[in-house]
Amino acid sequence: MAKSKAKTVYTCQNCGAQRPRWEGRCTDCGAWNTLVEEVYSSSTSGESSATGWRIEKSSVGAKMVAISLDQSPEELKLDRFETGLSEFNRVLGGGLARGSFVLLGGAPGIGKSTLLLQMAVGLANSNKKVLYVSGEESVAQTASRAHRLGLKNPKVDLASENNLSLILEYIKTQKIERPDVLIVDSIQTVFLPHLESAPGSVSQVRECAGHLMELAKQGGIAVLLIGHVTKDGNLAGPKVLEHMVDCVLSFDGDPSYQYRLLRSIKNRFGAANELGVFQMNSNGLEEVLNPSELFLQDRGENLMGSTVFSSMEGTRPLLCEIQALSSASTLAMPRRTTVGFDVNRVCLLTAVLDRYLDFRLATADLFVNVVGGLKIMEPAADLAVAAALISSESRHEIPAQACFFGEIGLTGEVRGVSFPELRVKEAVKLGFLQFFVPKANAKHFSSLNLKGNQKIIYIESVEQLRKALTHERSKKPYVSERDI
Ligand code: TYD
Ligand code: MG
Repeated sequence: MAKSKAKTVYTCQNCGAQRPRWEGRCTDCGAWNTLVEEVYSSSTSGESSATGWRIEKSSVGAKMVAISLDQSPEELKLDRFETGLSEFNRVLGGGLARGSFVLLGGAPGIGKSTLLLQMAVGLANSNKKVLYVSGEESVAQTASRAHRLGLKNPKVDLASENNLSLILEYIKTQKIERPDVLIVDSIQTVFLPHLESAPGSVSQVRECAGHLMELAKQGGIAVLLIGHVTKDGNLAGPKVLEHMVDCVLSFDGDPSYQYRLLRSIKNRFGAANELGVFQMNSNGLEEVLNPSELFLQDRGENLMGSTVFSSMEGTRPLLCEIQALSSASTLAMPRRTTVGFDVNRVCLLTAVLDRYLDFRLATADLFVNVVGGLKIMEPAADLAVAAALISSESRHEIPAQACFFGEIGLTGEVRGVSFPELRVKEAVKLGFLQFFVPKANAKHFSSLNLKGNQKIIYIESVEQLRKALTHERSKKPYVSERDI
C-alpha cells in the first residue's frame, strides 16, 4: 500500500509559481493576491500511474530511440486528418496532425463547442474515430445540438465526464477502435482526483494538460482542448499550458457581428497568425471562403475619410475598410479614439502629417475605426489610415476603387511591406482599380498583368500621397507616377 503524504503549497493562479507560504504579491509575475493554498496528497508510488501512460514510460528496460533525419513525414507517420472545414484545416497548417495537442481559446458563447462538434463530425466523415468529452454539458445537451445542426455519424462518441482519470482509462480500454481524436470541453472543468485543488486551478490545469500531452505524444491521439479566457481576453490558466501544446488557436469575434475569426497564435505544424473566417447562423458555423467580400459588403457611397486596406492575415490577404474622422476639439487634450487600430500609431501618424503636410490634427479630435470588428496590428495599414485622415481633414473624397498599403516612417517616408503582390492580387480580384503602394515594393509587381484601367501608384512620402490623391480626384488622365 502506498504511503501518502499531504503537502500544502501556495500557487500563483496567474503564472503557476509555487511558494511554501502565502505572500500578498507573487514575486515571479508581480500579480497581487493571486496565491491560493493548494493541498497535494502525493503518494510514494506515484499516483499518476492511474492513467497507465506513465507506467509505460518508467517501465524497466525501456530504451530511447533516435531516428535519422532523412526520413519522410510518411515514414514517421506524421499524417494529417481532414477536418471537413477547409478554414480550420488552413489555420492548423493543412489539417489536424496525428498526435498533435491543440488548445482552442475563446470568450463564452462565441461558438467553441459548436466549432469542435462540427469538426468532430467532419473528421468522422473522413473515417476517423472521435471521442468528444464534455465537462460542461450533458450528453443529451450535446446530442440535441448535434441533432439541430444535422450532424450525425456513428464514429463520433459523446461523453459527459469531469474526471480525467476515467477519461484516460476509457481510452486505454478501447481495444477495438481506439479514438484518433479526443476533444475535451473544457480543460478548466476536468480534474485529477489525486490533486485536492479545485478544477480550473493552476495545479489541476497543469497536471491534466501533462497527462493529456502524454496521451497525445505516446498514444498518437490528436487531443483538442477548449480553454476559457479571462476578462482581458488572455487564455485562463498557467502560461505553461500554452508552452505545452503544439497549437494555440483563438476563436473570437465581435458579438454585434455574426462572423467569427479563428486564428493560430502558435503552431508547431504550420504558419502562425493564420486566419480562418466563419459565420454563425441558425445552422451553426458556416465557412466564409471569401472574407474580403464580407468585410467590404456594407461599404457606403460617401467615401470621405474611408479607405480600403489590403492586409495580410498569416498567408492570406484580406481587404478591410478603415474610416477616420477629424473634428474640431473643445478639449484641452483632444480625444484620440480608435477601434481595431493602435492608438499610439494614430498619434505617430498625426505628428507626421502635421509636420510634413502642415495639418493641424494635433488640436483636433480624431477617430479611427476598422470596420467589421477586425483588429489590425500591421504597420502596413499606415498608408490607408493616413489617406483616410488626409481625406477627412481636407474634406475630399477618396476614389471609390482605391486600395492602400505601406508603412509610414517618422520622416514622412513610405516604406515597403511584405507580400505586396498578394495584396494587390486580392484587390484586383475584388474589382479595385487604383493601388497606392510603397515605391520600395516596385520590383515585386513585374509579374502582375494589369488591365488598362487598373494602375499602380507608387508612393514614396506622405507629401506624394496627398498629391496623388488630389490627382486621382481631379479625374485628369493619369500620366505617370513621376509627375506627382
Ligand atoms: P457555443 O458553441 O455553446 O459557445 P462556447 O462553447 O464558445 O461557449 O455557442 C453558443 C452560442 O452560439 C449561443 O449564443 C448560440 C449560438 N449558436 C447559433 O447562433 N447558432 C447555432 O446553430 C448554434 C449551435 C449556436
Ligand atoms: Mg461550450
